[in-house]
Amino acid sequence: MVTPPPDTEHSPLTTKDGWRRFVDDAPACPQWLSACARKRLTDQDRRADDEARLDYHARLVVVATPTVRKIFTTGRRLVLLNRHQISGRRGLIVTGQAGTGKTTAITQLGRNHELLVRQRLGAAAFDGRLPVVYVTVPPRATPKMLAIEFARFLGIPVFRSDTQTAITNAVCDLLIKLRVELALVDEIHNISLATRAGAEASDQLKYLSERIPATFVLAGIEVGASGLFSGVRGQQIAGRYTLTETEPFAYGTTTQRQQWRQLIASMEESLRLHRHKSGSLTKLDAYLHERTDGAIGSLSQLIRGAATEVILDGSEAITRKTLEGITVDQNAEAAHRQRRRRRKTRRDPDADAA
Ligand SMILES: Nc1ncnc2c1ncn2[C@@H]1O[C@H](COP(=O)(O)OP(=O)(O)OP(=O)(O)O)[C@@H](O)[C@H]1O
Ligand SMILES: [Mg+2]
Repeated sequence: MVTPPPDTEHSPLTTKDGWRRFVDDAPACPQWLSACARKRLTDQDRRADDEARLDYHARLVVVATPTVRKIFTTGRRLVLLNRHQISGRRGLIVTGQAGTGKTTAITQLGRNHELLVRQRLGAAAFDGRLPVVYVTVPPRATPKMLAIEFARFLGIPVFRSDTQTAITNAVCDLLIKLRVELALVDEIHNISLATRAGAEASDQLKYLSERIPATFVLAGIEVGASGLFSGVRGQQIAGRYTLTETEPFAYGTTTQRQQWRQLIASMEESLRLHRHKSGSLTKLDAYLHERTDGAIGSLSQLIRGAATEVILDGSEAITRKTLEGITVDQNAEAAHRQRRRRRKTRRDPDADAA
């Protein structure tokens, strides 16, 4: 038997309990204390303050980046347009490099949509509804595995002897009953059209999107390149889905630099550090771009890592030196090394030859 995860407070986002907690979650922002006020705290209170801030910086805020805004607007419009469509509903594909904010943007779309439905209906009428479902495609997905992911979200028990058709029917029937409106399917690059099982999983996804009266939003890394749009099946997907690309932040034109600085400023404003000088991170915009290659995931990792570091060492202010001591993901580190090497070669053309 493939048992659904237990209903604990650690349920992942890909279960209805985990999703509900994510929608309800309004992270508490720790109180900001001046260095003086902090000095007056007892040791115990100071430790509690540190603990609350370490927890807070482990997540930080979600910034309303151009990507988040665009996906919200497009997704919302599609949900409204699809409301009375019986078939041929339109969907959205979010594609881009790793760590460019695809999951964040689609889950924020889902969260906002669910909150809007709750607001529109009121608590009593909302009861018993499930406007949003969120699943991730497992590696080397088969059609049955895909149906099981939906079952897992819903908490439908699945037995080894259950056929793909039985699971699919149970999932579709329950989702219709729960009045789902938005189906978020993440990590679709795990569907490989090069294999038979992958091609069948892609068909299954299309079948689910026909049977479930919801707007489908698919997200994955470089989806265009994975062959999802090739062949007859691919053409049908391409004809129904709007494509939105998530990209790393560029640092070329004045507008691009402004957008990058705005992103840093939003993250910096959300910091809760006792001695951090506001604006000092924003001034390091060029350095931060070089370190992260413009990837929001790497920037977030770098700033959150530095915030954690300065809480632990008691310095309470992020400087360039702190940032230099933090290692980020391999993609960003490799891009950073390459840029440094190129700069060095430009300054001293013989350096590489030597
Ligand atoms: N709008 C945002 N505001 C703040 N932080 C963000 C935002 N978008 C992304 N991030 C940060 O970047 C990290 C990576 O984002 P996310 O997981 O959404 O990217 P992804 O494109 O789905 O990555 P992958 O391709 O690896 O699945 C997140 O953990 C989060 O810390
Ligand atoms: Mg993701």
